[in-house]
Order: sequence, then C-alpha cells, then structure tokens
Amino acid sequence: MDVNVEFWARDTKNAVKRGDVVIIIDVLRCSSSIIAALASGVGGIVPIKTVREAREVSRIHPEFILSGERKGVKPSGFKYGNSPVAFSKIKLEGAYLILTTTSGTNALSQAKEAKHVLVGGFLNAKSIAETAYNLAIKESEGITLALSGKKGSFSLEDFLGAGAIIGDLPDEVTLSDAAQAALLAFRGAKSSLTEVVKQGNHAKYLVSIGFEEDIRFSTQLNKYKIIPYLKGEVVIPSKST
Ligand code: MLT
Repeated sequence: MDVNVEFWARDTKNAVKRGDVVIIIDVLRCSSSIIAALASGVGGIVPIKTVREAREVSRIHPEFILSGERKGVKPSGFKYGNSPVAFSKIKLEGAYLILTTTSGTNALSQAKEAKHVLVGGFLNAKSIAETAYNLAIKESEGITLALSGKKGSFSLEDFLGAGAIIGDLPDEVTLSDAAQAALLAFRGAKSSLTEVVKQGNHAKYLVSIGFEEDIRFSTQLNKYKIIPYLKGEVVIPSKST
C-alpha cells in the first residue's frame, strides 16, 4: 500500500485519480474544529467554499448554524467562528453546522470526488490512521494525506499532522519521500509539539489575534477517536473501524 503526501490542496486531484483514500489535514484550525464539533455531538458539518455561498445555504436552511472564519475571525452575522476550543464546548446535540474557512473547506471541496474522504489532525491521528488503512486495504488502494496549507502556502503544522498520522500506520506500508519526511519531522517535533507548531506563520498570526489556546488545543495527540467522513456534501462522524 502506497502512502503519499500532497503539499497543495490543488494537487488533491492526483489522489482522486489514484483512487486513494484521502485524509484532509488542516490542523489550524479547520480539521481540529470539525473533529471537536463532531466529538461534542454536532450531527454534521456542511463545508462551503465562500462566505456568500454559506449565507445562501443558511437562508435555505435557517436551522443550520453558520460558522467559519476569514482572516481567522468570524464574519458578521455568523454564530460561531472557527475555534476548536469553542466547538469543543458547544452543546448542540445533533445540530448541523455550515462551515466556511479560508483554506480547509476549499481543500475538502478539492477532494470530494474521492471514494473516501476523511478529516484528520493531531486530535484523532491514531484512529484516522487505523480507519484509512482499513478502508485502503479493503479497496486495495493507497492513502493520500492532503495538506490544506494556508492560502496556497506550505503549512508546517499540517506537515507535522501528516507525520503523526503516518506514524500510526502499519510498518508494511510504502512511504513516498514526502511521507517519510513528514514522519521524520513529526518524530523530531513530538516532544515539544505545541512549541514547534507555534513557530509556524499561521500559528503566530492566530496568537496575534488572541487564539493561542486553539494552538494548544489542536496539538493534543489522540484526544478523540472521532472519524469525520465526507458523505456527499456533509461531514459526518463515524466510529473508528
Ligand atoms: C483555514 O481553513 O485556513 C484555517 O482553518 C483558518 C483558521 O481557522 O485560522
């Protein structure tokens, strides 16, 4: 089984062509928010690319809760921003969220033609690795870890997040050089993960606008076993297989 890392969301189409199981990684903060919200009991999350479309869906489905960010903060009229800490505390059993973020929801839309699309990060690394491996074995396909990045730029935290997931795959998988590099980088950073992630540009920006707690929260390894799975247009929770 081949394991690849795609550094840019726009290249996720390569994974779709390969028939791979795709894991979307946006540690700060889209993946972490999706994992935390589903773990808190949210029924499903509708990822939307633009704020305009998100408002349009909200008009059609006023029962869905409008959430997301641009430049890291909540657009006007939205009920929630994109803070995984906030999503970890919400009591919205079974509610549906509309979520639009700068890069993460775009990365999800790039992958939606894939047979299986999962959402992973540090928070669910072990369970997402097990689920992706079991799905790929069943379909005798490979696994691609697709880094969301930030506005088209490479993301340190997404790369390390991919390494954390790769580290929980069985030894018999075949790693691409990029996958091997992600694993080595994670192993080097693991003992001081939050501090290393804070050296990334997006982390520094989030600290500057008051979201330092989101970085600590999003760098907790295996806090949850939740498996966010893109079914049609909605990300729903499935239990690790
Ligand atoms: C993104 O999707 O680019 C991020 O999640 C942005 C953020 O929430 O800071």
